[in-house]
Amino acid sequence: MRPLLKNKKVLITAGPTREYIDPVRYISNDSSGRMGYALAEAAFRMGARVVLISGPTGLKPPEGVKLIPVVSAREMYKKATTEGKGADIIMCAAAVSDFRPGRKQNGKIKKADLRPKTQDTGPQMLNIELVENPDILKSLGKTKKRGQLLVGFALETENLKKNALKKMKDKNCDMIVGNLNGVIGAKNTSITIFKKDGKTLSIKNKSKIVAANIIIRKALTAFRS
Ligand code: CTP
Repeated sequence: MRPLLKNKKVLITAGPTREYIDPVRYISNDSSGRMGYALAEAAFRMGARVVLISGPTGLKPPEGVKLIPVVSAREMYKKATTEGKGADIIMCAAAVSDFRPGRKQNGKIKKADLRPKTQDTGPQMLNIELVENPDILKSLGKTKKRGQLLVGFALETENLKKNALKKMKDKNCDMIVGNLNGVIGAKNTSITIFKKDGKTLSIKNKSKIVAANIIIRKALTAFRS
């Protein structure tokens, strides 16, 4: 039987991004990268040429997959823009930091530097101004070509359906995979797949590789309908 994704290029973003405040400190999002890596593995097994753009994770890249390691959201954005052009399916599973420090300090911020000269007691305040990072999925939605399939994720703490449907529309996705906070880092996952036609599918407590296979198959049907 012909593999489902033969001659298809699949692009996946995965993991967290890191936004450095100074050379040793950063802000980031909670993400193990496991869902994105499982999608990469599943797509490769279905015969696709897979490019995985990943923020820092401790995970071994799946065999046969081209890994492009990145650190910041802006790096991920650049690579995704380039790689996205020739992709048939794009799945954005990364937990991208929505904000980055407006200015990265060249040297380590020292506590002593914060202390007012006249007083050395009491907690000190450090204000960090944050600026918005590019929205990779939204940008890929804007440049989406005919025949290209775009899948986004929505991690929510409440109102999963409402927020997932809003993200699907705002970011011009063909499908959104929603999950409620609590699955980060876990081996198993529970997700709800929202399709453009209003159909939904919930999967409870499945391994991420099983969920990845279902997500890809559903995405392909979303495309055909
Ligand atoms: N995403 C992205 N680039 C960003 C932010 C998010 O590509 N700068 C993608 C994620 O990979 C995911 C989807 O957009 O596929 C939704 O991400 P999520 O963090 O759930 O939502 P946000 O769009 O950041 O909105 P909010 O934080 O307000 O819920």
